[in-house]
Amino acid sequence: MITKEQVMEALKHVKDPELNRSLVELNMIRNIRIENSRVSLDVILTIQGCPLKFKIKEDVEHALKNLGAEQVDISFGAMTDEERAALSASLRKQAQPQPGQAVPAILAQDSKTEFIAVASGKGGVGKSTVTVNLAVSLARAGKKVGLIDADIYGFSVPDMMGIEQRPVVIGETILPVERFGVKVMSMGFFVEDNAPVVWRGPMLGKMLRNFFTEVHWGELDYMLLDLPPGTGDMALDVHQLIPQSKEIIVTTPHATASFVAARAGAMAIRTNHEVLGVVENMSWYENKNGEKEYVFGRGGGEKLAQELKVELLAQIPLGAPVNNPDDPDYSPSVYPEDHPTGRLYQELADKIIKKVPVIER
Ligand SMILES: Nc1ncnc2c1ncn2[C@@H]1O[C@H](COP(=O)(O)OP(=O)(O)OP(=O)(O)O)[C@@H](O)[C@H]1O
Ligand SMILES: [Mg+2]
Repeated sequence: MITKEQVMEALKHVKDPELNRSLVELNMIRNIRIENSRVSLDVILTIQGCPLKFKIKEDVEHALKNLGAEQVDISFGAMTDEERAALSASLRKQAQPQPGQAVPAILAQDSKTEFIAVASGKGGVGKSTVTVNLAVSLARAGKKVGLIDADIYGFSVPDMMGIEQRPVVIGETILPVERFGVKVMSMGFFVEDNAPVVWRGPMLGKMLRNFFTEVHWGELDYMLLDLPPGTGDMALDVHQLIPQSKEIIVTTPHATASFVAARAGAMAIRTNHEVLGVVENMSWYENKNGEKEYVFGRGGGEKLAQELKVELLAQIPLGAPVNNPDDPDYSPSVYPEDHPTGRLYQELADKIIKKVPVIER
């Protein structure tokens, strides 16, 4: 006969998919009743109507059937406000700076998360497109990936990835929204109806900091940051807040773009950020006959890479992903895995994984 202890032991290995912590540890399992080979229990979710309820149900059933249960009856409930507040407090404790440390845990010296910021000199060269697709490709390669849309005014990541839901908030802790295996945080989640953001200077840096202290990221191998264009305040904030961050510089093949991008590269070097390499975007257009037309000129990426003494990591042609808006996997900017450009991004991700190996835990 199965015992309650065995049930609890088995469920220690079932994790809440959002919080990535065991249901037992989160005190979500209650009221276990066992009659012969039938197990009934209550699962107390963080919020009513939790979108991941079905995944949790499946995992609990699976774990208990492995234990020998023939029938598993689960009743779902939701935490009380007090329980949620307590959980939030314990999650925040994880994210907040440890005693004696000035920075949140994910930014601390011994953090296992590699930060990669994507920068450019000029706007509109495809930073966000590159960040989003690199993040998705790293996730496709099995890595745990976060993405911060650090473009507080010009946020575009949620839209580009086709994210329609808003983050779940538990007490005062925000859970990032997961899409294509990437955990995403953006100012866009907190702005109503695309209203303009009117904060100035110091507020911006504070917001970015909040994205680390108030957001429950869990364990991440890579955190990508989509920077606002140029070498302005925000870019400087990022440099100061995340001194260990590495950088990818995006440019178009046009000589002027790469000239301007060199400034972003120079700033990275001045602030001791390692530049991993250059991505040239909009490199060419492939016409109907399969010929490459270099509509934005040629050689900008190569020239910039030489100037910064780094590798030209990828050249991405012009062409948007062809996606069907009715598809649940629809997104305006993410290339499918089997799309030629999707494959280029996969190669880019593989290069990044080699250059910046995942830190073993
Ligand atoms: N390779 C490409 N082929 C076709 N369109 C592209 C390509 N790369 C980017 N775009 C499009 O170009 C526009 C600018 O790209 P994106 O927003 O990624 O640039 P950005 O550098 O992040 O811009 P900003 O400086 O405004 O943040 C977007 O509409 C995007 O969909
Ligand atoms: Mg952008």
